[in-house]
Amino acid sequence: MPENTFEADGERVLADLNALRAIGAYKTGVHKPTFSEPHLRSLAWLTERLAEAGLTGSIDGIGNVIGTSARAGPKLLAGSHLESQNHAGWLDGPLGVVYALEAARVINSDPSVHGAVEVAAWCDEEGHFGHFLGSRSYVGLVSEAEIDAARDRTSGRTMREALREAGLAGRARVTAEPGRHVGYLEAHIEQGEALESGGLAIGVVTSIVGIWQYRIDFTGEQNHAGTTRMAIRKDAGLALARFCVAIDDRFPRACGPRTVWTTGRITLDPGAPSIIPGRAEMLFQIRDDDPAVIDRLETLLRTMAAEASAAGPCGVAVERIRIGHPATMDPAFQDAIEAAGKSLADGRSIRMPSGAGHDAQVLATIMPAGMLFVPSIGGVSHHWTENTEDADIVRGARVFVEACRRLLRERDGRPRAAPAP
Ligand code: GLV
Ligand code: MN
Ligand code: MN
Repeated sequence: MPENTFEADGERVLADLNALRAIGAYKTGVHKPTFSEPHLRSLAWLTERLAEAGLTGSIDGIGNVIGTSARAGPKLLAGSHLESQNHAGWLDGPLGVVYALEAARVINSDPSVHGAVEVAAWCDEEGHFGHFLGSRSYVGLVSEAEIDAARDRTSGRTMREALREAGLAGRARVTAEPGRHVGYLEAHIEQGEALESGGLAIGVVTSIVGIWQYRIDFTGEQNHAGTTRMAIRKDAGLALARFCVAIDDRFPRACGPRTVWTTGRITLDPGAPSIIPGRAEMLFQIRDDDPAVIDRLETLLRTMAAEASAAGPCGVAVERIRIGHPATMDPAFQDAIEAAGKSLADGRSIRMPSGAGHDAQVLATIMPAGMLFVPSIGGVSHHWTENTEDADIVRGARVFVEACRRLLRERDGRPRAAPAP
């Protein structure tokens, strides 16, 4: 039990996180793709915990779990996600959901707070079927046609089929009630090494990166790998490899100080050792918090594709398949997290941008939003070895709960008692 009844219970937070880790365990991490059996079991686990915490919660028609409170006063929404990347870490997502649950347990029973924390687990933050489908649905940005077209990027299963198999087909999708929330607060592991290397405990997020994604197609000529002379080949795989190297050569002269780019998947067609690939595809991502920088890089990418096509022997076509806008975190939310860190983490906090995408950037389009980071050991994430020291998890939970309390108190609209002379 914590010394103060109205602060986060570190043992309970660790027990909750380990309970979620045991659902779909993979090595020291988890394998919980969206709408997989372990993901659905995690959603059910959360729904039961919400009821125990006095919240009314259920899974909606896109797989979001939202727990609401009947308590009077301002409401703060808090959460993150419960699915994982394939064979990945146990904290990316669940940390923020468990902190939100803990904040609801503590704050909603604290008589000194007028108001409540409400809890959300957004579906498919990890983009198995699309991008930010759950949080985008909540803010009204997902059409039925987008759901019709969505497929699991690994298995090809359609989202409609997944929703049907999960028993969610035909269920209403919950959307934000205008004016209900004073804002949204999300906690997350940093997924980088800035906090650990600086000996810091808390990251106060200032902005969240924008993510632009492209499909780049190379068209050559499929032929026999033994009989086709090198001089006359139209090898789409080789054209792709050359293009990747050219990006790494030319992007540094056009990018910003924090721009990153990644070729996350390459497909060669037909993908056989004795056949020259006639087609090749790469999925390519650019991230920056300045849309002007991404615009500039996209123009360069298209110029390079046109040049490569003109030079031959393969055609190169660039298609943009995703735009994710960067977001600025609300200054008052940043102040509340920093103040909570001063009192509960010896001020060992730093204001920092997020290079990872988060549901908070979607929520920020309709309400003030903030994010708090805790350290990641070795800066590792999107890998099953991802981890955070227990002490950092517990400290982060205390800071998060305190930040929630400060945000609600600042917004309760009731006159304050004059401070004692
Ligand atoms: C989120 O998981 C991201 O890829 O940034
Ligand atoms: Mn995440
Ligand atoms: Mn992630």
